[in-house]
Amino acid sequence: MIVGGKQELFKKLELGLIPNDEVKKLMRIQLARRLQWGYKSTYEEQIAQVLDLTHSLRHMNIAMEVDTLDSNMYEVPLDFLKIMNGSALKMSSCYFKDDSTTLDEAEIAMMDLHCERAQIKDGHSVLDLGCGHGSLTFYVAQKYKKSHVTAVTNSVSQKEYIEEEARRRNLSNVEVLLADIATHEMADTYDRILVVGLFEHMKNYGLLLKKISEWMAKDGLLFVQHVCHKTFAFHCEPIDEDDWLSEYAFPAGTMIIPSASFFLYFQDDASVVNHWTLSGKHFSRTTEEWLKRLDANVKVIIPMFATITGSEEEAVKLLNYWRGLCFFGVELYGYNNGEEWMESHVLFKKK
Ligand SMILES: C[S@@+](CC[C@H](N)C(=O)[O-])C[C@H]1O[C@@H](n2cnc3c(N)ncnc32)[C@H](O)[C@@H]1O
Repeated sequence: MIVGGKQELFKKLELGLIPNDEVKKLMRIQLARRLQWGYKSTYEEQIAQVLDLTHSLRHMNIAMEVDTLDSNMYEVPLDFLKIMNGSALKMSSCYFKDDSTTLDEAEIAMMDLHCERAQIKDGHSVLDLGCGHGSLTFYVAQKYKKSHVTAVTNSVSQKEYIEEEARRRNLSNVEVLLADIATHEMADTYDRILVVGLFEHMKNYGLLLKKISEWMAKDGLLFVQHVCHKTFAFHCEPIDEDDWLSEYAFPAGTMIIPSASFFLYFQDDASVVNHWTLSGKHFSRTTEEWLKRLDANVKVIIPMFATITGSEEEAVKLLNYWRGLCFFGVELYGYNNGEEWMESHVLFKKK
């Protein structure tokens, strides 16, 4: 049981009253409980857990509660993201080749890896689903000048930013669609479809992959990056009353952390041609770099947040929430030296 209860803990976190090392320790305790929950005593039970989830997802909608997710997590001020993220505004794991790699270099290194693994060639038509602020869209459009990149997001502010930025960079090969992927339909097909950090927001992967496969050209490839646990998969919901961390870090049950091989069970309409995993150390280091930037810019962020929240007191709470999310990333992906929660890259071809 948490001393003082969950609400008391949330209040202290909001006010920044818990020292950093203590926050990390409290998070590690919950992560250890999640591992205990997820690891089964026999391999038979382990596989059954993953399979049960894959079956149950096939009865759900493609996604749920997108509006809540959208407003809470992704409609944040651009100036804030420019402080926290690297120059490309990448909102997912970056790739740190070694200790001296900077955040900006790590953003580029990961996008290079995406292009290589997705086998993109100049002249390809490319679809970037769940494009964030267009980091990969711009990277591909600038690297492959004869390619045309269509970015899709459900966030109004992300769409506006990408359009303005494409004009500023004089890129005529970038187009943005504002759409909810769960309900969006389109007639066009693409040589390459890139999906980075979106699948975690979805539920019915059978229907989703059926839909996406219809957008793949005949010899098209689909490249997916998703966070995962190496062995088990779960809806991001508290495991019990004491699991304050899941409640704190994830928007009410909308997200999933798949297992590393989860999508091997969803090959009805597209088949897996390659599969890689990347140590969680990369995302842990990414969120650690984000945290450093937040801490170095508190004096700028508080007044910026106060213009949205209406008071300095609420701005402090919002900043502490973001600091908490960064701590969570550092601890989750760094757990057991990056060998529990990590990144999975999956390459599909159309069937
Ligand atoms: C974790 S971010 C990753 C962004 C980007 N791919 C990157 O790596 O920086 C997830 C993105 O998916 C978008 N998204 C989430 N649910 C969506 C939905 N139902 N339809 C369209 N976009 C969605 C969010 O707005 C956000 O841009």
